[in-house]
Amino acid sequence: MTVTDFVAPNHARAPLVLGVESSCDETGVALVTLNTQTGAPLLLGQALHTQVAMHAAYGGVVPELASRDHIRRVVPLLRQTLAAARVELADVDAIAYTAGPGLAGALLVGSAFAEALAFALNKPVLPVHHLEGHLLSPLLAAEPPQFPFVALLVSGGHTQLMRVSGVGAYELLGETLDDAAGEAFDKTAKLLGLGYPGGPALAQLAETADPVLVAEIKLPRPMLHSGDLEFSFAGLKTAVLTRVKAAEAEGGLTDAGRAALAAAVQAAITDVLVAKCIQALKQTGLSRLVVAGGVGANRHLRATLMTACKRRKAEVFFPELSLCTDNGGMIALAGLLRLTSGVLPKTAGGFSVQPRWPLIDA
Ligand code: KG4
Ligand code: ZN
Repeated sequence: MTVTDFVAPNHARAPLVLGVESSCDETGVALVTLNTQTGAPLLLGQALHTQVAMHAAYGGVVPELASRDHIRRVVPLLRQTLAAARVELADVDAIAYTAGPGLAGALLVGSAFAEALAFALNKPVLPVHHLEGHLLSPLLAAEPPQFPFVALLVSGGHTQLMRVSGVGAYELLGETLDDAAGEAFDKTAKLLGLGYPGGPALAQLAETADPVLVAEIKLPRPMLHSGDLEFSFAGLKTAVLTRVKAAEAEGGLTDAGRAALAAAVQAAITDVLVAKCIQALKQTGLSRLVVAGGVGANRHLRATLMTACKRRKAEVFFPELSLCTDNGGMIALAGLLRLTSGVLPKTAGGFSVQPRWPLIDA
């Protein structure tokens, strides 16, 4: 069945959408519907398996291992989700899956699974853009934002500022010219000898730092005053490498020195992200900011953004912490909102995935 053939259930029940995420190193399955009284999206159940432990031995994601693991996990995760939501597979009205961007093999697992399931159930499929999932995920929070808003998307592969006017109405305001914010966290964490994934480890270490030592470290804030909404984080990595090498020549970083450098990196990334968010609010005249993607879980970024937005009398919205990093809930939600708003995906889906895919083409 194609999406255009979809007819919303005419009984009291709102559409029930199954979401499947497999673009990188997390397999996520979830069921989302609408609250029939308030019309707000409702997460009925979700299950997630993270491959972090498996990839940790290699210091990063191994694509072939990722694909194989998605294959092993996806059916048990579906069963777990159905049980958590107390729903039968036959009750599902449509199936959404991440069609890109991401690792080709990993994406193909989710796509083949969703397409095959939809074919067997005679239900429509919705190919979803991974970043659309991230940027709509705060709509599942207890106090969701209203459209329009500025969205800061900060994940392992992307750093973008978008103007979001509604479902499927996304305008790119600016993005990174090189490394993404998550990549800057991960790469500098690696230089500091922290494990994979580096972001959460670096953030944790930064919380133990002595502020006096942190203040002594001067790191660049790339493109802070560029006057536009573009970012660049590659220089930061080089600055950290220089410091690590200098410390090595003098016997290596002490624990206190490592923690201070971690906090200085976190502060440098945060300062740039916050300044550009405020500039984006000024430029668009909007007063709502949504933060999404894995780096949105960073506590220092959250606190600094909240203070900066309060000063501007702007509101800032974050997804629930469990919905910040990759998950099936955000994909089910994006599918549900596409279906109910009538703004259907431009991509037909099928068994083709899009490892590289600009969000405005979704
Ligand atoms: O959105 P996400 O789960 O996956 C992608 O779509 O890329 O984001 C993963 C990124 C990684 O770079 C990870 O290090 C970063 O988010 N991350 C964090 C934190 N939690 C995850 N970075 C800084 N602080 C955190 N607490
Ligand atoms: Zn992601």
